[in-house]
Amino acid sequence: MAGFRLSDEQAALKEMARKFIEKEVIPVAGKYDSSAEFPRDVIQKAWENGLMNITVPERFGGLGLGVFDDVLLNEELGAGCLGIGTSIAVNTLALTPILLFGNDEQIQRLIGPFLEGPKLASFCLTEPGAGSDAASLSTTAREDGDSYILNGSKMWITNAGFADLYTVFCTVDKSLKSKGMACFAVSREAQGISVGKPEDKMGQKASDTRAISFENVRVPKANLIGNIGDGFKIALTTLDRTRPAIASSAVGAARAALHYAIGYSKERKQFNRPISDFQAIQFMLADMATKVEAARLLCYQAGFEIDQGNLKLGSYYSAHAKRFAADMAMEVATDAVQIYGGYGYTKEYPVEKIMRDVKLVQIYEGTSQIQRVVIARHLLED
Ligand code: CAA
Repeated sequence: MAGFRLSDEQAALKEMARKFIEKEVIPVAGKYDSSAEFPRDVIQKAWENGLMNITVPERFGGLGLGVFDDVLLNEELGAGCLGIGTSIAVNTLALTPILLFGNDEQIQRLIGPFLEGPKLASFCLTEPGAGSDAASLSTTAREDGDSYILNGSKMWITNAGFADLYTVFCTVDKSLKSKGMACFAVSREAQGISVGKPEDKMGQKASDTRAISFENVRVPKANLIGNIGDGFKIALTTLDRTRPAIASSAVGAARAALHYAIGYSKERKQFNRPISDFQAIQFMLADMATKVEAARLLCYQAGFEIDQGNLKLGSYYSAHAKRFAADMAMEVATDAVQIYGGYGYTKEYPVEKIMRDVKLVQIYEGTSQIQRVVIARHLLED
């Protein structure tokens, strides 16, 4: 038998996350969207409910859940508020390099505190001049005794203003491109770190996005994750594992847009009938639903393959899931605004926020174009 029937534990996780967003996220999503404040109180409650850092293995005190479980969680968070969901999801993104490539001592020392309190982490790969071409980054790491000295700037870093730990990708020799890269866990306390002001974004206003600069930041060798030269592999292996959950957050946002559009179409009357009576609207709703269902299956497939250890296939489905779910959510949110008509274009109704929020999913954790590059490379390789 093949299928994606959820286990009792998975169904319980999904149900708990759904209740959490209904009680703690949806009621405040509009407030954080308008104020662009960081939702510290929601993060605290998410942590208290066991909804953060869920992939930390049991032997280190975590829940030991997999990528498939993270997909289930992030669909619910995305249905609540993508900005808040991103703040939570990026913790997993930033901790995954340490979980996958760190030694036991590093995992206990660096990740242990995340199980003791609602700490945040940032994944620092992107730079002002190195976005999609991540291997061209310029932040340097220079060996100095028992430390490395980091210099450079990072851009568009989620959680940057509130993170306790930064996972930072650097180069020891730029001429080596991807083979010269290294990954370090850097404490917020380290001297020489400056964090920029929050970016004034179109959407996902609740997530904190900033530039960070590192000026002669001394990092102990004990915080080198993996080996010098492993940095690019660490970054891409991590992204393969986290893109399915980010994709799933877009499925959640699209599901919410569809839900609102269905409700509105039954209430809104034109030509003496609810607009849901018109086939033009019915076909739009049907297409929106098909897209949501199809994207969810790709997310499930990607999570399933990665959890099975089929990393190559996982990478392939991860790119499909991220590309399709992000583009699909943008289409579905745009159609939801269309069904609401003029009302949908105002902040009185929830769908314009979803439309602004989902746009970012086509950009971060690898653009939709980069996902196509990854898919095409899989198709064309021997
Ligand atoms: N896993 C492991 N290793 C991989 C890999 C993968 N998925 N893909 C490639 N590699 C390895 C290759 O095998 C190769 O190794 P060898 O040299 O030993 O053969 C090496 O990495 C270089 O590979 P490529 O030549 O394919 O690399 P490239 O420079 O052409 O780049 C890319 C490939 C797919 C375009 C990659 O750069 C990429 O994914 N870019 C997008 C970056 C990205 O997603 N950024 C988002 C940042 S996270 C974020 O958004 C933060 C946030 O806060 C939300």
